[in-house]
Amino acid sequence: MCGRDVNPICEFEGRGGLAAVRLRHPSGAEAEVYRNGAHVTSWTLPQGEEMLFLSRMSRWEEGRAIRGGIPLVFPQFGPGRLPQHGFARTSLWSLDEAGTARDGSVRALFSLEDTDSTRAIWPYRFSARMEVGLKEDSLSISLQIVNQDHEPFSFQIALHTYFRVDDISAVMLEGLRGVELVDSLRGGVRETEDREAITFECETDRIYENAPETLRLVDAARGRAVVISSYGMPDAVVWNPWVEKSRRMEDFGDDEYTRMLCVETGIVLQPVTLAPGAAWSGGSVFDAA
Ligand code: BG6
Repeated sequence: MCGRDVNPICEFEGRGGLAAVRLRHPSGAEAEVYRNGAHVTSWTLPQGEEMLFLSRMSRWEEGRAIRGGIPLVFPQFGPGRLPQHGFARTSLWSLDEAGTARDGSVRALFSLEDTDSTRAIWPYRFSARMEVGLKEDSLSISLQIVNQDHEPFSFQIALHTYFRVDDISAVMLEGLRGVELVDSLRGGVRETEDREAITFECETDRIYENAPETLRLVDAARGRAVVISSYGMPDAVVWNPWVEKSRRMEDFGDDEYTRMLCVETGIVLQPVTLAPGAAWSGGSVFDAA
């Protein structure tokens, strides 16, 4: 239960009656994770400032993706043979362990394994772990995928993070100059990013290949930046639906594109192949600055 106690971790019934977990750091920072998708839906700094965008139109139903926060994309990015962005974000994860780590961070470990329904669409045995770590000014997510099958399998994976911004027209994303990108809105054309600081004036849906490990998202209207550091996840997807696509999305407000930017860290362009028994790990750390 989630009373006003000092417990660093508590389980509670979230929106739509979904099972959720709250992490509380002694500094006052908090995070919320829904077991539906091991989906981080909120990350607040000690003074209560929310760092993630969550749509007011999101659905809160088991088996449906939540719109906003940090959906986990696995084992497929985008459309394909499997449901869009894979099944991890719509699966019910277990909470395995929780508590305070030696470095003082508050941690919760979630896991997911194959089931009859995952094997019906993706015929492999696997285990996935996601550890969420909360400190005063940072949120970290560590991921591990293990191939529990007798056959190799390939996968894509991404932390589809929706950052909250005050005004998209005053946002800059730094760190991608010189990086090759695939522009999904122009038939997958490849080009090289030539801007030191990327700004946003229209729909954007780009996959940056082999991006640097550290990017910086600056929200000038709010006087806030987030440093995004990743390991094991070479690609960065930058997405904002802008006016028309926002209108087409039923679980997203028409005007909400002004309040968010997705900077997704992951393995998108070159799927990883895991041999039987092999493990992959990667993750991201978000530091508020
Ligand atoms: C992004 C894709 O990662 O996710 C976009 O690049 C897509 O093309 C967006 O529209 C949202 O996807 P979904 O399935 O959550 O609506």
